[in-house]
Amino acid sequence: MKIKKKLRGKRIHLQIMDASIENAEKKFLEVDRNRAHLQPWLEWVDETKRIEDSLRHLFACESERKKGKKIEYGIYLKKKYIGNIGVFDISKKHKSAEIGYWLSKDFIGNGYMKEAVELVENYFFESSFLHRLQIKCDEKNLASAAVARACGYQLEGILRGESWNPYSQSFRNTCVFSKLVSDHK
Ligand SMILES: CC(C)(COP(=O)(O)OP(=O)(O)OC[C@H]1O[C@@H](n2cnc3c(N)ncnc32)[C@H](O)[C@@H]1OP(=O)(O)O)[C@@H](O)C(=O)NCCC(=O)NCCS
Repeated sequence: MKIKKKLRGKRIHLQIMDASIENAEKKFLEVDRNRAHLQPWLEWVDETKRIEDSLRHLFACESERKKGKKIEYGIYLKKKYIGNIGVFDISKKHKSAEIGYWLSKDFIGNGYMKEAVELVENYFFESSFLHRLQIKCDEKNLASAAVARACGYQLEGILRGESWNPYSQSFRNTCVFSKLVSDHK
């Protein structure tokens, strides 16, 4: 399947970020400004210490995209870059994948992430590329779980003590939400 580089929504658009210094700088500065907001939930934030780390990440995304394993989009409000949404762990055999996301704290609470998730699932379900999408989050991450619920994902269960969270120095309980193409409107 040829992946669309741009998905247009009513207020936002999603755009694959090519591996360039300009994009790496844009991404790094946004992550750096949002460390306190993102760190409790996203482990890679601690590993993002300089622009080169973001550039390496963009190159890794490019390589994963070519292998059909992962597709990550920048989220833009007009020309302003405000966060990311990605589809990863793509299995061609099972037609399944997971969605991950984050938004700059200045832009939360406006329904932009709900719009981003809907754009991604419309594209991947309606192109018959995927059969199942899942969203996993820390049980304590009420905002992330609320996005999944607001988008109509069903809570399948909670994986107890599923992974170590270095930020809270504790094992986290992980909620698993899913949507099948048959649940899709
Ligand atoms: C998770 C995150 C993307 C949510 O962003 P957001 O801007 O609040 O999302 P939206 O505005 O699209 O909200 C979607 C829904 O969630 C609800 N919601 C958002 N935060 C909530 C909270 N803390 N408690 C209850 N509901 C909440 C909204 O009311 C909305 O529901 P509605 O459509 O029924 O009104 C954002 O908080 C974030 O980037 N957090 C840090 C990174 C992160 O946790 N990423 C996910 C890792 S699993």
